[in-house]
Amino acid sequence: MQTLCKQPSTAAGNEPPEIKTYQFVAASMAVLETIVVAFWAMLPAYVPNNAAVLAGGGRPIDGGRTWGDKRVLGDGKTWRGTAGGIIAGLALAGILSLFAEDVGAAISVDVPTFTPLAAFGLAAGAMLGDILASFLKRRTGRQRGAMFPGLDQLDFVVVSLPLTALLATEWFFAVFTWDVILVVVVLTPILHVTTNMIAYKLGLKNEPW
Ligand code: CTP
Ligand code: MG
Repeated sequence: MQTLCKQPSTAAGNEPPEIKTYQFVAASMAVLETIVVAFWAMLPAYVPNNAAVLAGGGRPIDGGRTWGDKRVLGDGKTWRGTAGGIIAGLALAGILSLFAEDVGAAISVDVPTFTPLAAFGLAAGAMLGDILASFLKRRTGRQRGAMFPGLDQLDFVVVSLPLTALLATEWFFAVFTWDVILVVVVLTPILHVTTNMIAYKLGLKNEPW
């Protein structure tokens, strides 16, 4: 009678250790794969900000104009920096698309190619997000280069993802599944803080954020 009440040995939590190990490895591989896809897909949005630092200079977008007693955007947002950032993002998307198949086969992860509209949405969206962030910084009385925690790290995600969804809808929803979006939101601030710290140490940026 007692044996009839026994749980079947395959019930959750009762698997033999080797099955548990296998499940753990499989789950870890799936997470790792999502991280690789998220990073790859976001590279054309990550690079423009760094390229703008190198390309920046010259005439500011706001032409020196003020709103109230504050600059509209400030001297940190220039035409040259913006164009350089977008071109760098587009170029990188092109290069990644050329290598997607070979890289994908080598690491057994299905990394995406980029359509021109997807590349433009990611690169231009990143620059636009950064410009909108400066606009908000000036409105809240922050000087050029001032820190705005949260906004500094996610401004380009907030604009580049919706813009890409709008311009390249089919591509966007095929690549940016919910798990990829979740990884992007977690990974981006970490990468942003790290790369800006490196750019600061190298003397390319005036502040480490
Ligand atoms: N840059 C640019 N054009 C852009 C973005 C950046 O020329 N659209 C260049 C500027 O030289 C800028 C530098 O990259 O100073 C660093 O970018 P960022 O940190 O975004 O600008 P900040 O100078 O910190 O200005 P803000 O406070 O407005 O963000
Ligand atoms: Mg800054």
